[in-house]
Amino acid sequence: MTQTISKQKMWIDTDTASDDAVALILALKSPTTNVIGISIVAGNVPIDLGVQAALYTIEMCQAKVPVHVGAIKPLVRSFASAQNVHGTDGMGDIGLKLSGRIPTSHDAVRQIIETFRSAPGEIDLVTLGPLTNIALALSIEPEFAKWVRRCVIMGGTGVLPGNVTVASEFNVWADPESARIVFDSELPLEMVGWDVSVADAVISDELAAEFSQLSDLGKFAMSIQRQVREFCRTETKLDGFDLPDPITMSVAIESSMSISEIQKYVRVHLGDGDTRGQTVVDHLEVLGRNKSCRVVLRVDRNRFVAMIRDALTS
Ligand code: RIB
Ligand code: CA
Repeated sequence: MTQTISKQKMWIDTDTASDDAVALILALKSPTTNVIGISIVAGNVPIDLGVQAALYTIEMCQAKVPVHVGAIKPLVRSFASAQNVHGTDGMGDIGLKLSGRIPTSHDAVRQIIETFRSAPGEIDLVTLGPLTNIALALSIEPEFAKWVRRCVIMGGTGVLPGNVTVASEFNVWADPESARIVFDSELPLEMVGWDVSVADAVISDELAAEFSQLSDLGKFAMSIQRQVREFCRTETKLDGFDLPDPITMSVAIESSMSISEIQKYVRVHLGDGDTRGQTVVDHLEVLGRNKSCRVVLRVDRNRFVAMIRDALTS
């Protein structure tokens, strides 16, 4: 009798741009993952572009997943995009038709709450953008945190500097109040910071060319990285481009991808200037707070690259 693999249910919250799209592909193509919902948050791009990019990517994967529109701006701060990194349309400005697709609802926060209420302890939550939708869910439904099986966050930095200020990573910097609510909640927190991305998720031009030749999906996944490649060439000085959301997704799909981690309390700095949105990891446990966050420090790069190759080939 063939053994049926029971797939892990997953909800993805995303501010869909070029790296988010590859993370969506990993999840949608994973043989062990059942993506039951996607919520969109303003971040990399204004909300409508995030919605269209998510729907476009789902179509490229020949998948069908409900997409729900969420917060159009941070809780307190003004909206600030990362279009300087990913391109005006967030998808490399390569001329994709990112319009005309219809989302399932404009009620993401309520959909998140009711979906997790219906299956407590069964669904993993993966966040790839600012944490506005999640903070709202926690604020509307105090029990929400207890219903989430795992909460895997692309955000912050565990040990190295940020990518928006010297200390802050974009997802946390964009909406620090929401991040504070999330990191001080009872969610089963797992943080994969930008330090992991620059350490283990840099894709060279040669590897990108190999991925591009695997399939039409591979060509799509790599061509939308055009603008972020230029940003990395001039600003972050990487030998290629990094994939923060996909490496976070790899840990969500397969927890053992993490090869170095610590369990600590993570405080999110509010305020302004260099430390706005800094994630301060209490390495020495001087704050006396519950060590509530699995802070991933390194990921198995070979397995990560193999996961991408498999997803683009399947
Ligand atoms: O700092 C990297 C994060 O900001 C990634 O999620 C990227 O998509 C942007 O949202
Ligand atoms: Ca993102």
